[in-house]
Amino acid sequence: MNRLQSVLGLELPLLQAGMGGIAGPELCAAVSRAGAGGALALYKEPPERARELVRAVVASTSRPFAVNVIPEVSGPALCRAQLRAALEELPAHAFVTSFGLPDAGAAHDVVRSGRVLVIQVGTLHDAGAALRLGAGVLVLQGTGAGGHLLGELPSARLLHETRARYSDAVLAVAGGVATGADLARMLARGADGAMAGTLFVPTVESAAHPYYKQRVADASADDTVVTTRFDIGWPGRPHRVLRNSLTGKAPRRPATFIATTWAGGSRLPVPRYSAAVPVAATVGRVEEMAMYCGRSCSRVAGQHPVAAVVEQFRRAYEAAGRSHETSTEGGPWKKRSSR
Ligand SMILES: Cc1cc2nc3c(=O)[nH]c(=O)nc-3n(C[C@H](O)[C@H](O)[C@H](O)COP(=O)(O)O)c2cc1C
Repeated sequence: MNRLQSVLGLELPLLQAGMGGIAGPELCAAVSRAGAGGALALYKEPPERARELVRAVVASTSRPFAVNVIPEVSGPALCRAQLRAALEELPAHAFVTSFGLPDAGAAHDVVRSGRVLVIQVGTLHDAGAALRLGAGVLVLQGTGAGGHLLGELPSARLLHETRARYSDAVLAVAGGVATGADLARMLARGADGAMAGTLFVPTVESAAHPYYKQRVADASADDTVVTTRFDIGWPGRPHRVLRNSLTGKAPRRPATFIATTWAGGSRLPVPRYSAAVPVAATVGRVEEMAMYCGRSCSRVAGQHPVAAVVEQFRRAYEAAGRSHETSTEGGPWKKRSSR
């Protein structure tokens, strides 16, 4: 058992990324039951709904899982209220993952509750700040990651720099990990574990829209692109997405409504260039929406149940550990050899 496993109580040193709209109770609980760290995305959920969602996870798994917040999107007041509601419902072995630095008050609430605070960062500077806020685990996000990008370094380089500066920190890597062999390679470079998002987007338990799931399952790394086009609702942050009809050089089109979706417990219109992802309940021009996807998609295939995905991941990880194998092959579902 390595340090990440013992700090968080996991069978596998693998964390599922919180993914707003996609990582609901079903995905989180399925990942947790499979022995990895599931995460329930609270995104912009109001506190009372956060409480209900946490209760749904607690009812379906007795293993560790996380609630995930994005302080930059929710804002400090909502973030703190979400956490306070969640902390009242969370079992002692649950933990909290934050995308970017939370404010000191929110961090303090988590640490004081006895839960481990896991903070995802993209720079060495923020790694130091996260440790000072009391983070027990850092997630180092590299530029190959799917979704919103926190820094400008590939994960292996950020890992190298952070390990050199903070030799005792518990470090997981995000971006570029979709197979057990990927994880073994990161561990050999000094990580204690990894976080994966894209791997879980096409799973049966994910709440992503079926069109989006299929696009991720079919995609390879070069089908993804970093863009600032999806800035409505999340300005100023580059996102790695699947290329679509809005991501090329085409001039910006009117930000009229292109779909409706279900978020925070109600149906809402989606403007073109919104940061909202297409979910199962989205109706409209799904192809034009932000389909977050990491370069690891080359090694993600099919729409399989989480239990099977994690089992395959575990077998490849154990095999890589036995043979010191560092191949990127994912196993029988691998679709192409490109990375
Ligand atoms: C569809 C999608 C949605 C995401 N939404 C969130 C989120 O709500 N909260 C969060 O902490 N990170 C979010 N992320 C970023 C992940 O935390 C992580 O950096 C990324 O998934 C790692 O790269 P990978 O997708 O290639 O595994 C999202 C990523 C994806 C792919």
